[in-house]
Amino acid sequence: MSLKLNRTEFGNAANKGNVLAREEAMQLFNDWIKNERLQLHMKQVAHLMKCWAKEKELLDEADQWRWEMAGLLHDADWDQWPELHCRKIIEELEVRNIDAEIIRAIASHGPNHFGVEPVTNMDKMLYAFDELSGLIHAYSLMRPEGYAGMELKGVKKRLKEKSFAANVNRDEINDAMQRAGVQLEDMIMFIIERQGEVV
Ligand SMILES: [Fe+2]
Ligand SMILES: [Fe+2]
Repeated sequence: MSLKLNRTEFGNAANKGNVLAREEAMQLFNDWIKNERLQLHMKQVAHLMKCWAKEKELLDEADQWRWEMAGLLHDADWDQWPELHCRKIIEELEVRNIDAEIIRAIASHGPNHFGVEPVTNMDKMLYAFDELSGLIHAYSLMRPEGYAGMELKGVKKRLKEKSFAANVNRDEINDAMQRAGVQLEDMIMFIIERQGEVV
């Protein structure tokens, strides 16, 4: 099954700055995704994107929401239409005249799957957070204290252990770090320090 999108242009430049209101985004989120584990994953990635936009990119609140929205909806179609991932959510956001940068970020969150290269910082960070966030969450679930006291070396050990969270592609994580120009260790710490806040 190929998820290749076979396109490189997304959205319409005229829609710059158009976003869903938080209530509208949550409506779509709750309508489309019934799987609570997937909901949590998307909320975690959304939170990381927002924190990065605020703390590292120093963006204002409107732009922070654009980053957060890309994270919140990046897997919106995965629960009910896995064979249409991420074509369906892209088309939905295009119909709703949403900012092209948000649509593009979603379209490039898995370059090996969708055939779309991450270009902007938003694209690259969504790709960088996606799998690594999942692995760290899986690690938190096997620790009695969850995220509390979690250390860099513990996460690195799990990363090396191929059987742990085996669905998390280690090559993709390394590829994503390189493309984003960030250090794996820094990203792990960024996630450890923030992801536990999401419930
Ligand atoms: Fe995905
Ligand atoms: Fe994801």
